[in-house]
Amino acid sequence: MTSGIACYKAVDLMRDLQRAGARVRVVESASAAELVRPALFEALSGEHVGTSLWEGWSHDEEGDYSQFPHLDFARGIDALVVAPATASLLGKAAAGIGDDLLTTTLLAVDPRKTPVVLVPTMNATMYAHPAVVANRAVLRERGYWIVTPDEGPLACGEEGIGRWPGNRSIVAALDRVVNGTTRLEGHRVVVTAGRTEEDVDPARTLTNRASGRMGFALARAAWLQGADVTLIHGPTEVPPPPFVRTVAVRTVAEMSEAVRAALPGAAQLWMAAAVNDWSPESAEHKLKKDEWDGVLQLTRTEDILARAAADRDPTTVLVGFAVETDDILGRARSKLESKGCDYVVVNNPLEEGAGFGHTTNRVALLGRDGAITDFELMSKRELAERLVNHVLDQQSALTTAER
Ligand code: CTP
Repeated sequence: MTSGIACYKAVDLMRDLQRAGARVRVVESASAAELVRPALFEALSGEHVGTSLWEGWSHDEEGDYSQFPHLDFARGIDALVVAPATASLLGKAAAGIGDDLLTTTLLAVDPRKTPVVLVPTMNATMYAHPAVVANRAVLRERGYWIVTPDEGPLACGEEGIGRWPGNRSIVAALDRVVNGTTRLEGHRVVVTAGRTEEDVDPARTLTNRASGRMGFALARAAWLQGADVTLIHGPTEVPPPPFVRTVAVRTVAEMSEAVRAALPGAAQLWMAAAVNDWSPESAEHKLKKDEWDGVLQLTRTEDILARAAADRDPTTVLVGFAVETDDILGRARSKLESKGCDYVVVNNPLEEGAGFGHTTNRVALLGRDGAITDFELMSKRELAERLVNHVLDQQSALTTAER
């Protein structure tokens, strides 16, 4: 970390990275160490914190001193992140200057082999300065990943681009560079997630308990494979993953319209949203209990997936989702056929840890060719990665077979 004013947030970033399973070692520039004392990172990481080429040289259990602290920090790492990265750091990195521990460590890591993520935060005028713009371009060209800062009120009192982008974005950027592939690069993937709401009256809605987690995990999984993801989601409690294009909708009609707009040219549609099958005729005024018979007249909503199957390009792969408690595979198979999709992911909410509201799921994937693949109980995040990979494997096998 360098001495951007956001450097106090680096403490929390380290905690989030640790929570995500990372072992974190910290190198601070001398100025950053003035703002956030190394002792804080040492206490929280249990690791020696590097601040200078000349002091605190590490030594191992035998008492041997490392004469190369910059190499010590650079060796054997999965990724390097500079957060926050000042304009000065970008300039030195672009020029290949190594005049302290941090910049020499940076030089000791080849960004074409080990992912390096830079998180610039600074005053908006500095961020837009031609020298800083040019340095960013040089760094990108050399294989560095740069997380674009957020826009809004800055610590200096001005408004503009230069804010800390948030731990979720930084962790997601690292997730992509460490775990990502290019399998879906150049392809668009559309994912629907969460629930829809149909209005009963101006104060009440008819909805369900879908959390959005499964669809959000699928959007992340497709993004990790390099896809350009459009995530169409209804109201949810959990935030959508960063870096994907989100379209927030509420009703079935809104979701249908968003899918219609996003579908042309898409490689895949994952229809994970729990869409209302029924819609009441919405009352213009609030229904009063004394003046109402308690009966809701419901009509069927449009089936978004079935319509997408009728409209799609032949190359778009469609995946539907089914929730069944009886004759699970039989009903999932007839759903696959009646909707005209290529796959159906089915789960039974009566099973422990499966379905709505859980962070885990246990599903079976049915293919048009009759194949059934069972996935054991696992986190929705891992399951989503497995599902996306599975469908991709099958699609590439098909294309190879056609050749
Ligand atoms: N779906 C849709 N449009 C709807 C309803 C559902 O696109 N109006 C999609 C869902 O996103 C999901 C799949 O269709 O991918 C679920 O099928 P559905 O027939 O709605 O299943 P259930 O709601 O479980 O209905 P059923 O009572 O027939 O089991």
